[in-house]
Amino acid sequence: MKNNRHLEQKVEKLLAQMTLDEKIGQMTQVRHFDDITLNEINTKFIGSIIHTQGPTPGNDAAEWQAKFTELQKQALSTRLGIPLLFGVDAVHGQNTYDGAVIFPHNIGLGASRNAGLVEKAAAITAIESKATGFNWVFSPCVAIPFNEKWGRVYEAFSESTELTAELTKASIRGHQGLTEPFTVMATAKHFIGDGATDFGVEGGNTTLSLDEIRQQLLPPYQAAIASGVGSVMASFNTLDGVPMHAHKAMITGLLKAELNFGGIVVSDWKAYSRFGGNDIINAGIDMVMAVDGDLGLFQEGVKNGVLNGVISQERIDDAVRRILRQKFRMGLFDNPFPDGSLISTIGIQEHRNVARQAVRESLVLLKNRNNILPLKKDARIVVVGEFGDNCGLQSGGWTVNWQGTTENYKGATTILDGFIKHTAGEVLYDKDGLAGYDNVDVAVIVVGETPYAEFFGDVGGEMNKYQLTLTEAHQQIFETYTAKGIKTVVILISGRPLVVTDQINQCDAFVAAWLPGSEGDGIAEVLYGKHDFKGKLPHSWPKSEADYIGKYGPNYWDNTIEPLFPFGYGLNYNQSL
Ligand code: BGC
Repeated sequence: MKNNRHLEQKVEKLLAQMTLDEKIGQMTQVRHFDDITLNEINTKFIGSIIHTQGPTPGNDAAEWQAKFTELQKQALSTRLGIPLLFGVDAVHGQNTYDGAVIFPHNIGLGASRNAGLVEKAAAITAIESKATGFNWVFSPCVAIPFNEKWGRVYEAFSESTELTAELTKASIRGHQGLTEPFTVMATAKHFIGDGATDFGVEGGNTTLSLDEIRQQLLPPYQAAIASGVGSVMASFNTLDGVPMHAHKAMITGLLKAELNFGGIVVSDWKAYSRFGGNDIINAGIDMVMAVDGDLGLFQEGVKNGVLNGVISQERIDDAVRRILRQKFRMGLFDNPFPDGSLISTIGIQEHRNVARQAVRESLVLLKNRNNILPLKKDARIVVVGEFGDNCGLQSGGWTVNWQGTTENYKGATTILDGFIKHTAGEVLYDKDGLAGYDNVDVAVIVVGETPYAEFFGDVGGEMNKYQLTLTEAHQQIFETYTAKGIKTVVILISGRPLVVTDQINQCDAFVAAWLPGSEGDGIAEVLYGKHDFKGKLPHSWPKSEADYIGKYGPNYWDNTIEPLFPFGYGLNYNQSL
């Protein structure tokens, strides 16, 4: 954080004028629907609005902007006229807006290892988020996933701390580095241990030692802070049984005092009622997602806490100081409203070209027997499986909806679209794998995981909907085609490495495509050889389900278990295996 004396003076001057109610208001984040009425923006002195799952602010970007302009005017009409922050879960593009460009999820960017590309993707996300009325994104997730069973593996770049730290810097630069009106505040999340819980349970307990946390999980946060990140979100997990939201030693001691983080520590969803009420404020949380019925509880609870001496006035001032500091730093007092001229940038070709490059560079080639790839232009091809022609399925969670979509969405292309575009021969499509085309040169089998977000995607766990292997239906599709003796190329669409050892052994070529997002047609550009493969595994690739014996998944790092492919593996067209 730059030490800007002039800015700090403005913060102090404003803070000195604020009542306790106004201060608590600044610390409050609510949704634009259900949680509040328009009038309550004033009466409750709201500091920030969040948009995520739920009713959209309007039908198109102009209406979204109009809605947020109305809310902002309301905030500016309060005694002190402090502008609102508008936050959104834009984790791979402005993914809450149907028609925005959707980038590959972070795991795919991790495979690209291209920091310049990550920066460009973040900058485009900033512009398209701004264009829909937001000035704050809850991204990037800088977790280090320890176990593929975790349902959020794809939100993180890699199992490698170093690679994650490097790409975190690029992401923060991209989000926050543009000039107005294009830039947003970024959020490094979720502090700390989200991806390192025992057995990969979302919001579970991590038993890593402090030394391990410092060595393996902290460097991306240090990188984010060095890059000037404006906010850090606390994590749902506990650390040795203590909720991270209420962990004073980690939030106030480590993050704020030791690492000198001067930005906002924002809570995660409904944290006040979930993690101990005023304990989270005393631990160092500055702004609270007081959603889903928490608003009154939070505002009254904190007020009583201050009046009863449970929360110190200094703690409240520290929180508000941080919030005001970011609002001044972002220039919000001078430019509080969305800029209508940005609307025309949403989903433009120039943005899609960067996303398509990211799709190409994220592909990891794990096998290419007898150089079956690149495909011959005049080969007769059948694309098999519903993932081959469905934009929602190829994009994962946090796409249009929180849990993603199984429908096509605006402006996106499918994987099949790319094959049709690039072939000089014939491309057939067998949606359910039952059409039984025999007279083809190659079957391109597209299989994977249906979209999920957060705990919905944990393997085992509360929902118990996902597994470490392909579904039985997808295994069947694969077997149907291999039984015909047709050459097979598998494209795996997944948020994590899966145990697919049998399929890799039997197929001719295998491509890990992660969750490519809206530019599905980019995959064919590589499979037809217009571009070479560049992606390298961001995670070690597991060999067997039986290797998942420990709380952190297979223990590759102490060499007790061998992965099928090591971290960093990835072939290109000069190698054939
Ligand atoms: C997630 C966060 C997200 C927040 C707001 C939470 O459930 O853990 O990553 O930013 O919701 O939607």
